[in-house]
Amino acid sequence: MGKVIVIVGGQWGDEGKGKIVDFLTEKADVTARYNGGNNAGHTVIVGNEKYKFHLIPSGIVHQGKLNIIGNGTVIDPAVLVEEIENLEKRGFNVSDKNLVISANAHIILPEYVQEDKRTGGKVGTTGRGIGPAYTYKAARVGVRMCDYITKEAKEAKKLKPLVKNTWIMINDAINNGKNILLEGAQGSLLDIDHGTYPYVTSSNSVAGGACTGLGIGPTKISNVIGVYKAYITRVGGGLFPTELGTEEKTNNEESLDKLRKELGEEGFKHLYKKIILKANEDDEYSQGRLLRVQGVEYGTTTGRARRTGWFDAVAARYAIAINGLSSVAITKLDVLTSLKKIKICTAYSYQGKTLTDFPTNINILKNCRPVYEEMPGWSEDLSKIGGYDDLPENAKSYLERIEKLIGVPVSILSVGPKRNQTMVLREEELF
Ligand code: IMP
Ligand code: MG
Repeated sequence: MGKVIVIVGGQWGDEGKGKIVDFLTEKADVTARYNGGNNAGHTVIVGNEKYKFHLIPSGIVHQGKLNIIGNGTVIDPAVLVEEIENLEKRGFNVSDKNLVISANAHIILPEYVQEDKRTGGKVGTTGRGIGPAYTYKAARVGVRMCDYITKEAKEAKKLKPLVKNTWIMINDAINNGKNILLEGAQGSLLDIDHGTYPYVTSSNSVAGGACTGLGIGPTKISNVIGVYKAYITRVGGGLFPTELGTEEKTNNEESLDKLRKELGEEGFKHLYKKIILKANEDDEYSQGRLLRVQGVEYGTTTGRARRTGWFDAVAARYAIAINGLSSVAITKLDVLTSLKKIKICTAYSYQGKTLTDFPTNINILKNCRPVYEEMPGWSEDLSKIGGYDDLPENAKSYLERIEKLIGVPVSILSVGPKRNQTMVLREEELF
């Protein structure tokens, strides 16, 4: 019997889902995207090759797998065609044997992108027309893939052979005992219903979205894995209780590439040393900046510097509940290296009261202050660690503390972007 596993982001996106999905795809027969559009972006590294995807599931880089872009997604045809052509240029053959698109998925028209750029400022949208596409879908005036491919446009002709009734294909695959990986874009705290509204995206990124976004029933799902960074980040506007430094200061920061260019290698090394020093003198902005620099926290889609903060167990537990997570994958543990002390937010303090449940009312969340627990850090480079037992004791204690605070097991641990920097801790949660 095959398994149907959903992968969701447990935070505000960019948790490293792409890497976890890619790791699990080796044993999956089908990989499917169920929400969002080219607001998402992930980088997959296979050997020395780097691939960037916004729409196509990362299973495409493996031979003989079927990849589905579900009805719950919104598709910018030009972007999808470009992704396909880039793959073709690199020697991949893309056909309906390895990539299919739901006939019911909605299209992002060029004017939606313009509209998003005009109106999405407050939320800090990626400006890709995602919000307008879902708006027109709900208003029942949208354009679906099945209609779009009847048009004369070059993109329409290119996509036509890939457009299918994907609900049949995915249900057949489930009934035939295949292993199926369902990939959510963005994170749970950006979900249109459950996120920090209005600072959210326009689709259901939570596990429930996998059912509506692909046309399968909830009884078919075997496991749900939430991906979390060992700390937390957010891009765009919105509340962020454990933020280190301020949104304004982060937004005004130069990109890593620009810094390197401006300062030169020596100058950059000097700055890096200074950031570590100040971070360990309890300067919050420098702690956040250290995470940003060590974690390369700059968007794949927009290049924006990401806001960074300490692991938030209150928000993590909320994501566990709304997704029904059976286990979590923790990524980027290596990024915490060099911090003498690491904090975990265990509760919020609100008007003299202690809250342990995440408040979804932003007027309450706005006035919540994190309650922290402090743990000792480590200085060892984790990126070459072979197995869990080789981790520094303090890194193990940190992970065990997170596991205890959130109440579900860690099934996968990642200490770097490469496939061999991934440890399986609970085989039974995976394929
Ligand atoms: P939109 O999805 O482009 O409308 O953007 C809405 C909000 O979600 C903004 O704050 C974006 O920064 C955020 N967002 C959208 N996609 C992603 C993602 O893949 N990772 C992180 N944040 C995202
Ligand atoms: Mg991303």
